[in-house]
Amino acid sequence: MQGRVLVAYASNAGSTADVARAVGEELTRAGAQVDVRPIADVAAIEPGAYDAVVVGAPMIVGWKRDALAFVERNRAALAKAPLAFFATAMTLTESDEPIPDGVAVTVDPKLAKHPRNEERLGFKERFTTLDHYLGPILKSAGAARPASVAFFRGKLDFRRLKFFQMVFVMLVVGAQPGDYRNWDAIRGWARELPARLSLA
Ligand SMILES: Cc1cc2nc3c(=O)[nH]c(=O)nc-3n(C[C@H](O)[C@H](O)[C@H](O)COP(=O)(O)O)c2cc1C
Repeated sequence: MQGRVLVAYASNAGSTADVARAVGEELTRAGAQVDVRPIADVAAIEPGAYDAVVVGAPMIVGWKRDALAFVERNRAALAKAPLAFFATAMTLTESDEPIPDGVAVTVDPKLAKHPRNEERLGFKERFTTLDHYLGPILKSAGAARPASVAFFRGKLDFRRLKFFQMVFVMLVVGAQPGDYRNWDAIRGWARELPARLSLA
């Protein structure tokens, strides 16, 4: 496989950076020339500079705001390169909402949870459905459509959070602290990327 790939990431407490680096390692192993960079270090994506772009960020009351803004302001360049997104999260409620055409969604099996009552989702469950997560991400991309979007279970370390963040995660997301990153799922998805991004 040949080609230049940008893996741009945002992170709140640092753990999504490790996920981005693991994705970058797999792409490098497959033969790509890979730049793994924090979003804050990428002023703008020059159209044509990369053969594919991967953008990753945690769900922090929605996909982290600077990732949404990064995708939005680079829409034009992203529409010209094969594109993939990933998110880390602590919970994702399974629901039968339809997924937009042409977007392949991968959900870490360790992240997805059955709702307590499929007929009527609870407040926390409605807040954490695939549709709730995916809608704003796709909206930020406009006409740039990702070939693949993945959701992986992440890491929560209360010592690295501000007090109000901790309260939000406990009360709204209902997540327990711990490192739940599923490296097999992360690296497995990354190994499929060359084919999904037409780089193979
Ligand atoms: C303020 C805040 C809000 C969060 N909101 C969500 C959320 O809506 N859904 C979810 O599943 N996880 C949520 N999380 C958990 C993070 O997505 C998860 O811990 C992620 O792996 C953190 O990545 P980081 O270490 O790169 O910041 C939230 C975490 C924080 C601190």
